[in-house]
Amino acid sequence: MDYDIADIGLAGRGALQLEWAAMHMPALKEIEKEFGRSRPFRGKRISALLHVTKETGVLMECLAAGGARIRLGAGNPLSTQDDIAAALVKEGVQVFAWKGESADEYGKCIAKVLDFDPDIIIDDGADLHGLANGGKREVSAVGGTEETTSGIHRIKAMEKDGVLRYPIMAVNNANTKYLFDNRYGTGQSTVDGIIRATNIFVPGKVAVVGGYGWVGRGVAMRLRGIGARVIVTEVDPLKAIEANMDGFDVMPMDEAAKTGDIFVTATGDIDIITERHFKVMKDGAILCNTGHFDVEVDVKALRRIAVKRRRIREHMEEYTLKGGRRLFLLAEGRLVNLGAAEGHPSEVMDLSFCNQALASQYVLDNAGRLENKVYSMPEEIDARIAAIKLRTMGIRIDSLSARQKKYLAQWDF
Ligand code: ADE
Repeated sequence: MDYDIADIGLAGRGALQLEWAAMHMPALKEIEKEFGRSRPFRGKRISALLHVTKETGVLMECLAAGGARIRLGAGNPLSTQDDIAAALVKEGVQVFAWKGESADEYGKCIAKVLDFDPDIIIDDGADLHGLANGGKREVSAVGGTEETTSGIHRIKAMEKDGVLRYPIMAVNNANTKYLFDNRYGTGQSTVDGIIRATNIFVPGKVAVVGGYGWVGRGVAMRLRGIGARVIVTEVDPLKAIEANMDGFDVMPMDEAAKTGDIFVTATGDIDIITERHFKVMKDGAILCNTGHFDVEVDVKALRRIAVKRRRIREHMEEYTLKGGRRLFLLAEGRLVNLGAAEGHPSEVMDLSFCNQALASQYVLDNAGRLENKVYSMPEEIDARIAAIKLRTMGIRIDSLSARQKKYLAQWDF
């Protein structure tokens, strides 16, 4: 079997992690059971570029139960859990990923993942879709899926430029995805990453969160929850009002840069924290990013203006500036929740990956009927996932009576 990972000897440890994750992903396990019966992916090949975590492992098991043959690569050079990669290889998944890939190795792994003549392409960040639609390769995929906001931006740009060669389901935009994964998942895992990387005490610290989208608001909420005084920076007036009315201070980054102890970028755009901000930051300020790409903190500028650079802890580097102030960068400016911690916990990935599983089935079932466009997840699938998840959480809710339904359909009371 073709694969390239760090150490197959880690498979035993990875298998235990997969078991632990599966216990906390009951909704996906239900879909796996159904796939085991109906085998929707029998004889089909799936190429997937996702963070190689225990949760992704449970998704791979689900797709394999449905009959798929799978090649998997990493969604980011720093996010692979090597024990999971090894356990998945033992289960027959062709994995091309290890933690700490160089840029060149990352590119080679993506190419390997695509060299599989896939029927379905699953992606997180659209690096794989970028290669598949770049025009240089034969691609016979009937459809694809995209996990994250940054990836959706890229595939919408591909659609606009008329280069999309297959339909793509915007998994990120399902209610059962972004309302939970982006907000609560990133909220918790980002704080987890900051604490694992630094072990700092958060109460009383000033935390600056760049961006108040679903990710930013989750991060701001959870940082406040453990005692930080949170400042939000925004470019969107509406989101800025929301942040203000949610009780956060709102100001431009130029001002926040002077007072922050901890900075977290969550915008999906470039140049959020740049040289002019580094120059006014306090000695000891901690910088990290939780957006998909490592473009939000200008790490190149930091390296250029630093007079000294040292690794202090596994996921933390100290940059000393002229005059002696020190700034501490976490996880190289890559997504701190996956670089320094383990990404979102299984319970929340349960929802996201139900969407991935059912989106993959949907593009296959509708092969030939969809245009080469970006599609929202069908409302019925979203509602079904919410219902399964709620049931597996042991939560029961009321339902509308016939009288209530009738009332809601009336206007002439
Ligand atoms: N994205 C964020 N957290 C993740 C996780 N635990 N597994 C896969 N992708 C993720």
